[in-house]
Formats: sequence, structure tokens, C-alpha cells
Amino acid sequence: MLNNPSLKYNPFPAVQLTDRQWPSRSISAAPIWMSTDLRDGNQALFEPMNAERKMRLFRTLCKIGFKEIEVAFPSASQTDFDFVRELIEGGHIPDDVSIEVLTQAREHLIRRSIESLKGARRAIVHVYNATSKPFRENVFAMSKADVVDMAVAAVRLVRELTNAQPETEWVLEYSPETFTATELEFALEVCDAVTATWGATPEDKVILNLPTTVEVTTPNVYADQIEWMHRHLARRDSVIVSVHPHNDRGTAVAAAELAMMAGAERVEGCLFGNGERTGNVDLVTLALNLYTQGVSPALDFSDINAVARTVEHCNRLPIHPRHPYVGDLVFTAFSGSHQDAIRKGFALQQPDAAWSIPYLPIDPADVGRSYDSVIRVNSQSGKGGIAYLLEAEYGIVLPRRLQVEFSRVVQAHTDSHGGGNERSRHLAIVLRKLSRQRASRALCRTPPFRAWWHPGHPPQRRDRRPGALAGRRRQWSHRRSGTGTARRRSGGAGAQL
Ligand code: KIV
Ligand code: ZN
Repeated sequence: MLNNPSLKYNPFPAVQLTDRQWPSRSISAAPIWMSTDLRDGNQALFEPMNAERKMRLFRTLCKIGFKEIEVAFPSASQTDFDFVRELIEGGHIPDDVSIEVLTQAREHLIRRSIESLKGARRAIVHVYNATSKPFRENVFAMSKADVVDMAVAAVRLVRELTNAQPETEWVLEYSPETFTATELEFALEVCDAVTATWGATPEDKVILNLPTTVEVTTPNVYADQIEWMHRHLARRDSVIVSVHPHNDRGTAVAAAELAMMAGAERVEGCLFGNGERTGNVDLVTLALNLYTQGVSPALDFSDINAVARTVEHCNRLPIHPRHPYVGDLVFTAFSGSHQDAIRKGFALQQPDAAWSIPYLPIDPADVGRSYDSVIRVNSQSGKGGIAYLLEAEYGIVLPRRLQVEFSRVVQAHTDSHGGGNERSRHLAIVLRKLSRQRASRALCRTPPFRAWWHPGHPPQRRDRRPGALAGRRRQWSHRRSGTGTARRRSGGAGAQL
């Protein structure tokens, strides 16, 4: 790397927008979502999806609740063309779903794309050409006027061809590719030319999609660009402003969120952030971010694991274990202080109260995840985690002194044997060791422990929903109250040793 990167890289220029409004706005409704998993996502795979995988993912997208789905780049591949035909001829498209296809702004590609859509009930034709200076000058050797002419000619042709297929309800989408690197005045000129040529009206809106084809700056600058366009576009009431963030700087989700605050009404992206290079914006994270702010995303991820399995199968790419909301480890705490806080949070959480469990921004149950993996034991875990496991799994509440003793043994054991995954086996070994110590003998005589430990009495699966634990503790306390061994403690009744 260079000692002085400024010799090679220039900072991105700020947008002249002194009275920007977006920083004081918040998002109160879901955008129109458009899944491009089957197009942008598919184009970025080692091996693009075959028809079976495409159909499986299409069905999953419909089930989740997407109403706009970019299904193909039909002029680029026969598989894609045939897939569009199969969707239409096989009657696979739900009535409330619009399919979309992408085409470059070139005559023969537009013709082929519109041909693929014959007989569709409603379809979005997505046309694009690159507008930024490096593309104009270095890639295509075109002037600004040539770029505008290319977009306008494409839109005219789409109008002509779609007029000839009146059985379909048509929508035009136009993307100035490389928008973020394009001079804003020029992006505006092209977009206004497109809406004028189409004759956009409030009843026949044009989708103007402003992509971060390559993410080149901080998300606040993108938000400024979107707000600037939102405020300057002609026929604003006849336009749906859409964003299509890529994730080159790792800020696609932030870019999309700030862009919504800046006036974007529609977001394009892929499930779990698949897509070219670092991916398209992750629509699952965006949707669940909204959900955790109390805003319905209008997408259903109540069985997120099933969605993840389908996406992994179709893309043949794994999802990272720390991926927000879905990764195998995102609802797991290893650190002792985190475990302790979570344990206390679960004990106090009432089923109907606002969610407030430390370190868990969402209730795992809302996305179909269990509490099984919330707390795992390794050599970093403290007494809190061990205490939570005993309470949650076996209904045993340890007094503080015993928690400390118990966690020391667990730590010693996991230090020498590793830990985490085989929780029950480790606990069994630890408990056996403890049973030799005086303070632990009482624990080993408790009914939950004996039921679990005694051969032929395997542990029963417990209900781990919030509030269930408190309920069990009350039951256990009630059963033991006759013996005089149960005591009340702050935060609820519980069985204590
Ligand atoms: O990233 C991009 O610019 C695109 C366009 C074709 C919308 O995928
Ligand atoms: Zn893209």
C-alpha cells in the first residue's frame, strides 16, 4: 500500500446541497421492493442458475411477498429467455406480481426482451445505458448528446413495441448506469429526457432507478445525490425514484436507508446481499432493520432459515455465520457479561411488552430461530451463561455462590476440551465433576437434574419463548414450596438450592 494514497486516489466531491432535508427524516413505511436475485444476483454466480433453481427461487421470492421481481436478462442468454417464457406460459406468476426484464439500450436487445414478455399480464421493461464521464469518453467514445440520444431512442422503441402488445400492462424503468459517478446535472438531463419521451403521467409512472453501480463514496453523499435528483426532477409526480446500491464500500444498507430518507420510494437488491463483486444491497437486512424499528417491511421472513437454505442452494454460495439476522452465530453469545445480561433480560421480558433483551436487537422467534443457540459455553463464558443454560434447559436456579463455583469448573473443562457446540455433553461432564463437591450434591438431587441425568430419562425439550422460563420457575417454586427449599428472589419466583 502507498504511504500517501492521495497520490493515487481522489476524495469524492461533495454535493452542493446546503439545505438538505434527509438527515432529520426517518423511515416510516416500507419501500416498493424489487428483487434482482434472478438477474443481477444470477449474473454474478460462478455458474448461473438453471431453470429448476430459478423457478425455486422465484417461488420463494413470491412467498416472501415480493411484488416486483427482475426475472432475467433474456437477450443475454437462452436460459433466461426460456425462463421468462416458462413463467408466462406455465402460469407461474401470481396475479399481484410483476415480472421485470433488463436490457441494454440497444435496438436488437430491446426487441428480443419485449418478445420474451409476450402474453405477460403486467411487465416492467428495464432499459439502461452508462452515463458517467469515464464510460462516455473511455468505454463508448460518446458525447453527452450521444448518451441522451441513445436513451431516448431506446425509450421510443420500447413505447412502439409495447404498444403493439396491448394485452400487457407495461411499465418503463430506466437506469442511468454508473449514476453515482455521473455529473448530477447530466444525470438529470438524461432522466428528464426519458420521462418526456415516454410521456410519463401520474397514472403511467416511469421508474427512474439511480444505481450505485460501484459504491464510490460515503452513504451521506449518495443521500445528497438522491435528494438533489428528487428535488430537481421534472414530472416528479410521474416518477418512482428507485435505488440500486452495490456494496463496494460495505455501506449498501446504509446507502439504501439514507436514500429512502432522501426521497427514494423503491429499492432494488438481493436476498442476503448476493450480486456483482461485493453484492447488491441485502434486502433481508433492510427489511428486518425496518421491522426492528416497528415498521412492517411487508416481506415475510418468519422462517428465515428456510429462505437461507433455498438461497444457498440456488446460488451455490454460503451465507456467512455472522450475516445480520440469519447467520448461524448471530443469536449466540459467548462472552460471559453478554450471557449474564441476556439471561437477566429473558427472565424479566414479559410476552406482551416491547422487546428489550440486551444484545438481541430482534426476537429470534420472530424469524423462526430458536433460543437454543442464544448462549453457548466456551472458555470466555462466565457464570451468567452457565446459569442461563441450567435455568433454561433444566429449570434449575443456582444461588450466586454455586454459580461461581460451577462456572469455574465449566471454564476449566472447556479450556482443556474446547466447548460451545456439544453443550449437553460438556454440561454432563461438568455436572459429574461437581457432583463430587459438597455444594453441588444438592443440585444433583433436584428433580430436573435427576430427570435429565438419570439413564433412561433424557432431557425434555423446553419451551424457550420469553416468559416461558419465568412460568416454569414459578411452577418449580410452587412444587418445592412445601419442602421449604424454594425462596422468592427479586425478578420473580424461582427454584433455588
Ligand atoms: O448496478 C447497476 O448499475 C445495474 C444497472 C443495470 C441497474 O445493475
Ligand atoms: Zn447492479
